[in-house]
Amino acid sequence: MGVQISPSILAADYADLAGEVARIAPAADWVHVDVMDGHFVPNLTIGLPVVERLATVSALPLDCHLMVADADRWAPRYAEAGAGSVTFHVEAAGAPVRLARELRALGCRAGMALKPATPVDPYAELLDELDMLLLMTVEPGFGGQRFLDLVLPKVRRARELVKDRDLDLWLQVDGGVSAETIERCADAGADVFVAGSAVYGAHDVEAAVRGLRAQATAVTEHAWWSPHH
Ligand code: DX5
Ligand code: ZN
Repeated sequence: MGVQISPSILAADYADLAGEVARIAPAADWVHVDVMDGHFVPNLTIGLPVVERLATVSALPLDCHLMVADADRWAPRYAEAGAGSVTFHVEAAGAPVRLARELRALGCRAGMALKPATPVDPYAELLDELDMLLLMTVEPGFGGQRFLDLVLPKVRRARELVKDRDLDLWLQVDGGVSAETIERCADAGADVFVAGSAVYGAHDVEAAVRGLRAQATAVTEHAWWSPHH
C-alpha cells in the first residue's frame, strides 16, 4: 500500500470539523478521529453522533481510534456510523478476535491498538484477524505529547512478524509523530502515520502532510523491511 498519512483532528478546531477535514483532504489519505470516553483515558472528546455526521460530510474516510472502555460493545457502532477503519484498544477488549471479525463483517477495516507498555508478541497469532495494528508512541489521552522512542523496538518487532508471516497488515504509529520523528518510525517499519499537532499546528496544513509523506516515503524505500531492499 505504501506510506499513508492520517492527520488527527484532535488538534483541529472542533467548532468547524467539516472545514478542518476539507483543509487536509487534498493531501491526506484518512482523517484520524480520536474518540475518548473519560474512563479508558482521562480525557473526553466526541462520540457516535458527531462521527456519524462527520462521515457524511468528509471527503476522506474516517480512521476512528477508540480510546474507550468496553470496546466490544462500542466499536461495532462506529463501523455502523460510517467509519472506514475502526481501531479498538486491546486493553479495553474482552474478545479481540471476535470483535475484529465483527468489524470486518460490517464492511469496516479492523484495527487494534497497543499502549506503549503493551507487548506485541502475545498477539502474534491474532494478527491475521486484523487490517491494522496501531502502536501508540505516547500514552493515549492527549495530543501534543513527546514521542516515546522506547516504542520503536516494538514497531520493528511488529514489522518482523508481518514480514515473516507475509501478512497484509498496516502498521500505524500515533503520538508525537512530526518532521523530527517520522523518519525513525518509517525506518522501524511503520507505514501509516497519524499526526495531530504537526499538521494542524502548521500554517499550511496541506504542505505539512505532503512534507511528512515525502520524508516517510524516502526512508521507506531504503528501509531494512522494504520489499525493494
Ligand atoms: C493521543 C491521540 C493522538 C493524538 C496525536 O491519545 O490518540 O491521535 O491526536 O496528537 P499529536 O500528533 O499532537 O501527538
Ligand atoms: Zn489517535
